[in-house]
Formats: sequence, structure tokens, C-alpha cells
Amino acid sequence: MRTIYWDDETSSVILIDQTKLPSEFVLEKCRSVNQLAEAIKVLKVRGAPALGVAGAYGVVLASYEAGGNTEEVKRYLIEKAEVLRNTRPTAVNLFYGIDRTLKSALKGESVDEIRELALKEAEKIAEEDVRINRMIGENGKKLIRDGDTVMTYCNAGRLACVDWGTALGVIRSAVEAGRDIKVIACETRPLNQGSRLTAWELMEDGIDVTLITDNMAGFVMKKGMVDLVMVGADRVVRYAVFNKIGTYSLSILADHHGIPFYVAVPTTTFDFEREEGDVVIEERSPDELKFFGEHQIAPLDVRVYNPAFDPTPLKYVTALITEKGIIHPPYERTIPEVLYEGKG
Ligand code: MRU
Repeated sequence: MRTIYWDDETSSVILIDQTKLPSEFVLEKCRSVNQLAEAIKVLKVRGAPALGVAGAYGVVLASYEAGGNTEEVKRYLIEKAEVLRNTRPTAVNLFYGIDRTLKSALKGESVDEIRELALKEAEKIAEEDVRINRMIGENGKKLIRDGDTVMTYCNAGRLACVDWGTALGVIRSAVEAGRDIKVIACETRPLNQGSRLTAWELMEDGIDVTLITDNMAGFVMKKGMVDLVMVGADRVVRYAVFNKIGTYSLSILADHHGIPFYVAVPTTTFDFEREEGDVVIEERSPDELKFFGEHQIAPLDVRVYNPAFDPTPLKYVTALITEKGIIHPPYERTIPEVLYEGKG
């Protein structure tokens, strides 16, 4: 089933509420842009590709909730696109999904046509996401040998996309090809996307998964229990890959232990005109570190620093697995070759 989709009957966006997993499987129906924006902020829907599709459907929602004539509807769309843009700053796909759908919708010459164009574009982005993930899986599966154990971080699975997944998509494709693969999922503090989401979705598919806490990764690598690391990304800039906080530490550990470190990522996540310093790293509420659910786990007045992402220097990345192929160093030359292929 898809993580997020448009429901024609009720003109709403339906998404799996990921904050409730793994104990409850609940679908949330977003009937307004503000409701969807809130769902994005609290991570009911999350993961770079899924955020791109959420942004796209958000523009469709705006076109349905807008009133007035063509010009008024267009103004409303532009206003609501800003609300969606202001939800989370780091994953570039969110902006890609919003901007692409908005651009298409604004070509409409009537209110009906605006809605039609917005929905058509958003559905196209969602379809492309599934197709792209399958291609990433096909390209990347050759990097995983029969009997390998893959360490992964956060959740770069179908829950982070529309379906299949990027990092977990590569693992799924390797399993589909008949290989016997084991996965080690790091729990990914503070919001535990690894234990709540990755462990859950791999188990749903019957893929062998072992959960560890983040601070066990080095020891587990030292013991020779990891053949490769495979993660997703929120934004790839000129010299770095932004992904969930803790990815950087994992890349250094992998480098130290001579373990390949792969990033599975659609080309829609590249922002190669920018560098590390241009990217806003989301800082989240101190309460995420002071409470575990309802349970207080730190002094209430302790100072907290809670960045949600970190940049991993590309020099620690063995290869980037995209739908257009596997990209190897030297990235300065190879990334532009793949990104701007055929564009002169
Ligand atoms: O804060 P989140 O859960 O949205 O962070 C998600 C990640 O860091 C994922 O690894 C990334 O978006 C890649 S998903 C294919």
C-alpha cells in the first residue's frame, strides 16, 4: 500500500500516520493545507521523497479549498505553497514537489483547469517516485552479495517514499533477486525512525532484521558483523550528503573499519548548485530529548541542542546509487555528468 495518496471522493490527502507506528496502523485524512502542514511538522509523514509528494498534494489541496475567481485561486495557491515550504527546511524534495506542482497549476486558465493540472502533476510525481525507487533498487542490488549483512540508519524505506524505498528499496530488490540478506537497523534517536519504522516495515516483508542502539554501531562493525552500510539522503550538495543526524558518525565508523558506505538517493534529492553552508539544518523541540513519549528522561530545565540532520562529507561515501546509475568518485566530475546528462 502507498504511504501517501490522493483520495478523489473526499478531495483529501490520505497518509499513514507514522507517529503511531509500530503499535498502531492509522490512516490520517488531511482535508486542508493547514492540517497537512501540521502532519509534516510532527512527522506523521516524513522522509525526503514522501515529503516531496506531500508538498505536491498540498498544492492540490490548496486548489480545492480556494474560493473565488481564477486569479484569486492562483494567489491562494502561492500563499499556501509558502505555508507548506515553511514546515521543514532540510529535505530538498519538499520544495521540489511544491514548486513543480505550483508551476503546473498556475498555467490553468480556469479554476477547474488549475485543479486538474495540480492533481495531474502531483500524481505524476508520486508515480515517478515509485518508478525511480524500483530503478534505484535494480541498480543498487548488485552491490549486495548473497549472505551480506547491511547496516542502515533512520528509515529510507517505503514509509519514507510512496512505495518500495531508497536504501531499503535496494535491500528489497536484492532479496527479490533471491539473495539471503540480513539487516542491522540502528534505532535512530531521538525519534527512533529506525526502531519504530525500519524494523517494522522490514518485518512486514519478512526481511531478517536486528535492532541495535546507535551507540552500538562501532562495536558491531569491529566485530565484523557488517558488510556494508546503506542509507538514504535528504539533500546532496556539492561536497556533502545531508541525512538524519548520526549518519556522519556512522560514515566515519565505516571508513575506519574499511566498510563500504552507500547512499541510495533519487536525483530529485540533489541540490548540487549549493554547498553545505547554504543548507538550513532543522532544529527540533528540546522536548524530543527530555521526554520519551510521555515519560520524562532529562531535567526539564537542561539546555538541549537537537539538530535533526548532519552533513556527511562525500569523501566518506563509497558510491551514490541513483535511478540513473551508480555514481563513483571523483564526484566533482561524475555527479554533474549524471545530473546534466544530455542537457548540453
Ligand atoms: O526526519 P525524517 O524522519 O524525515 O528524516 C528522514 C531521513 O533522514 C531519511 O533517511 C531520508 O529522508 C531519506 S528517505 C528515503
